[in-house]
Amino acid sequence: MDEFGIVILAAGQGTRLKLPVPKPLAPIAGRTLIDFSIKAGLQFLKDTSRKGKISLVLGHQKELLIDHVSKYWKSSEIETAVQVEQKGTADALRAYFNDNNHAKNRAYTIVLCADTPLITASEIKSLVSILESEKLDAVAATFIENQPRGYGRIERGSTGFRIVEEKDATEVQKKISEVNSGLYILRTDFVMKYLFDLKSNNNSKEFYLTDLFQMDRKVKAITFENKDSFVGVNTIEQLQYVNQELRNKIVRKAIQKGVYILAPEQTWIDDTVELEQGVKIYPGCILEGNTKVESGTVLEAGVVLKNTQIAKNSKILAYSYLESAVIGEEASVGPFARLREGSVIGRGSKIGNFVETKKVNLGEEVKVSHLSYVGDAEIGDRTNIGCGFITCNYDGASKHITKIGSDSFIGSDSQMIAPISIGNNCYVASGSTINQDLEDGDFAIARGKQVTKKGMAKRFIKSKK
Ligand code: UD1
Ligand code: CA
Repeated sequence: MDEFGIVILAAGQGTRLKLPVPKPLAPIAGRTLIDFSIKAGLQFLKDTSRKGKISLVLGHQKELLIDHVSKYWKSSEIETAVQVEQKGTADALRAYFNDNNHAKNRAYTIVLCADTPLITASEIKSLVSILESEKLDAVAATFIENQPRGYGRIERGSTGFRIVEEKDATEVQKKISEVNSGLYILRTDFVMKYLFDLKSNNNSKEFYLTDLFQMDRKVKAITFENKDSFVGVNTIEQLQYVNQELRNKIVRKAIQKGVYILAPEQTWIDDTVELEQGVKIYPGCILEGNTKVESGTVLEAGVVLKNTQIAKNSKILAYSYLESAVIGEEASVGPFARLREGSVIGRGSKIGNFVETKKVNLGEEVKVSHLSYVGDAEIGDRTNIGCGFITCNYDGASKHITKIGSDSFIGSDSQMIAPISIGNNCYVASGSTINQDLEDGDFAIARGKQVTKKGMAKRFIKSKK
């Protein structure tokens, strides 16, 4: 079957954005700009069961991009080419053909820019079907923009159309409101015929890919009604706009799937987050990174989840902050809890208000209900930790482990001086500072002895007169 080369042009710097990273890595909806172009390309191949490859044309700060792509995408899905000097979009496409031997043998070449993140597989699909059914050499996606500044204008004539860049447009051409989106489907033999002969005699002295489209060629400009899909990100305002659009889309998709989101406009969900049907989300929640929440779980107001997995039917109560945590089924966390990296909370366990955990492994039905710090610790099933408990895990130089077995009871206001190990079925009296290990079934009390002086309080109570 015919193969597709899906080329994403990403060698430019994007100076207009004034970001500390190259434009394709501009942060957006929990990913970066270029990820959305990659996603659209891969989705197109998947939806249509066509064969093809994603190729990135890199240049400006290419190491950063290669680093990003190798972290988030499979290397088998993506190849790269390098455009040494950024001499225009046609020059970028030349780099793709020069660097990838197979490229010219692929029947079709799809070109996407790295800065149009709202384009999806559906726009690509409809263009491909027009190209194939009308036996064209190339199609370009266009839309109507009442403020067309910055875009190439579509100049239509009796024998076709061509594209005039803003910098080269006459005052009359500048008034054209139909603009070029930067998405093209091209027959590769057509590209090979013209690409390497294009000239840069224009006001930018750049090689324009858009010059492939000329009158009298078998090319067509397809005007899309939904211009929102094609917004290009050249300014910080456009970046904010597409960010908001993507976020709305993510929330809408979740709602359609059966996630109950009480205040869609006050809920931030990264594109990387996975939510099952039946999750309930109160206003003001922020869900980021590699986060997954299973069905039946409730996130109350103001919950922040970063790279956190939560199993079925759990409750994360208001204003809790969870980072790289793993929560079992039917657990309860918060309100006002802070779970730091490596907190693994077992099924049915309870982490109450003003509790901080870090690198802990809690078994099933463990309770840490109030005002505690639990760090570098393992706690067995059904153990109850009283209020105001502290693992003293840090001696100023290193961290030490606290181990507490199953079915133990640790009284309120206790501290464990780590490293320390408490067995199963132990009982620690309230107010104890424990620095010696306990074996299964042991009882420990370690608090200063009380001294009572009959009636002596009046000596200490200050008169308020
Ligand atoms: C381009 C189109 C314009 C269209 C607009 C849509 C051309 C000549 N113009 O203009 O008609 O309306 O997109 O958003 O194609 N790039 C490279 N190497 C280069 C130059 C650019 O890889 O030498 C990449 C950029 O990283 C970017 C993409 O190509 O991802 C588009 O470049 P940009 O400079 O943003 O083009 P526009 O001026 O927006
Ligand atoms: Ca652009």
